[in-house]
Amino acid sequence: MQNKYQNTNVKELLQKAPIDININIKGWVRTKRSSKGGFSFIELNDGSNINNIQIIADKKLDNYQDEIEHLRAGCCISVQGLSVKSQGKNQNIEIHAHKIQILGTVQDDYPISKGRISLETLRTMPHLRPRTNTIGAVMRLRSHLSHAIHNFFNQRDFCYLNTPIITASDCEGAGEMFGVTTNDKNDFFKQPAQLTVSGQLEAEAFALSLGKVYTFGPTFRAENSHTSRHLSEFWMVEPEVAFNNIDDNMQLAEDFLKSIIKSALTHCQDDMNFFDMRIEKGIINKLENICQSDFIRLSYTDAIDILTKSNKKFEYPLNWGCDLKSEHERYLCEEYFNAPVILTNYPATIKPFYMYCNDDGKTVRGMDVLVPGIGEIIGGSERETRVDIITKRMEQSGIDLHAYQWYLDLRRHGSATHAGFGLGFERLVQFVSGMSNIRDVIPYPRTPGHL
Ligand code: 4AD
Ligand code: MG
Repeated sequence: MQNKYQNTNVKELLQKAPIDININIKGWVRTKRSSKGGFSFIELNDGSNINNIQIIADKKLDNYQDEIEHLRAGCCISVQGLSVKSQGKNQNIEIHAHKIQILGTVQDDYPISKGRISLETLRTMPHLRPRTNTIGAVMRLRSHLSHAIHNFFNQRDFCYLNTPIITASDCEGAGEMFGVTTNDKNDFFKQPAQLTVSGQLEAEAFALSLGKVYTFGPTFRAENSHTSRHLSEFWMVEPEVAFNNIDDNMQLAEDFLKSIIKSALTHCQDDMNFFDMRIEKGIINKLENICQSDFIRLSYTDAIDILTKSNKKFEYPLNWGCDLKSEHERYLCEEYFNAPVILTNYPATIKPFYMYCNDDGKTVRGMDVLVPGIGEIIGGSERETRVDIITKRMEQSGIDLHAYQWYLDLRRHGSATHAGFGLGFERLVQFVSGMSNIRDVIPYPRTPGHL
């Protein structure tokens, strides 16, 4: 037998199941029960995956009476022991402890115990909730999706671009921005500054020089929305591509979504099985189907047609020109098509100034990707390149042209067709995990009235 104890983690142990090896493992106790035979069984989790490793502690261990007997959920321990083939049917490997060192005990008011705690209650303790199976699984999925997104673009020669967080431009033109200033309000930047709502405008400049770029960063919206789909601080992924038109843009969005969902299904199997069992029954099957079928492509006008002809009673009435509400979007992708839908050619009046105006003079080449259970997950467009038309659109939106000369310059010097979109990263995590509230898929949610 070797003397040295090999450091490892639960994920590696369960995957490789090395037998007869001296290992050292550290983690948090999930449960502990004592048997009449003079043993304790400890379920240990270290966050490396959703499953636990079983530790068997013999009564003969030095600190059995004083310490091990008192272990309970949440305690942090370090275990040195031998890996053995398990007799139990729930695991293939377990650890017979030679030594258990207590790293951190828990106080009586430790809130995460065996009984189920609601996600709502867990939100009041964002520093402890990652100790639960659900939030742990969500955060591992979130991390994997980030890597999958970077991989997708990296494989396609996109340049990863970091656009500013403090900015002077309001990309969406909706005025929903947080101001940035110093405590003594001495106007640090000598002009008003805000937190960005989108990196798109800055990304356009780099697309028109580097070709294919994408951003992946935090964005901020001071809109007073209290829904399960809105955060005040969220992360957005924004590809922007020179020479792409609206059709290329739709294809990129569809390929992109399918590719990262497939990656999660392949690489996050344990966590996905957990979501399928505990969060949304059948979600794996639903996601597999989505990866295999074509997204529906539909114009706004046809969507209005379908919605007005449906016998469904909507809370908000519809007519051509009105903005679609979540209930309409969800009817289309959940009930009518039961598939992701890409809506295009929206009325110019309900979309931002930067979208390309169609020849009909009424609609623009914007696109929203709607998915079942969420509604809008992606918003994007082909960009307006004609300097006279975009100037007029900006004036109509009440934008101070003076501050956007650089943006107009992009249309004056070496301009070209280009297009891009923004994916709401938390909505993606929601979609793939089946979590119903967006506040449960970001480590520290920020919403109106809640920091
Ligand atoms: O549709 P939006 O507002 O589009 C843009 O910001 C464009 N500038 C993107 C681009 O073309 N480069 O936002 C894009 C996506 C939405 O589809 C939604 O998924 C998400 O960002 N989103 C939010 N997610 C969480 N909380 C909020 N308050 C969100 N607002 C938008
Ligand atoms: Mg949108």
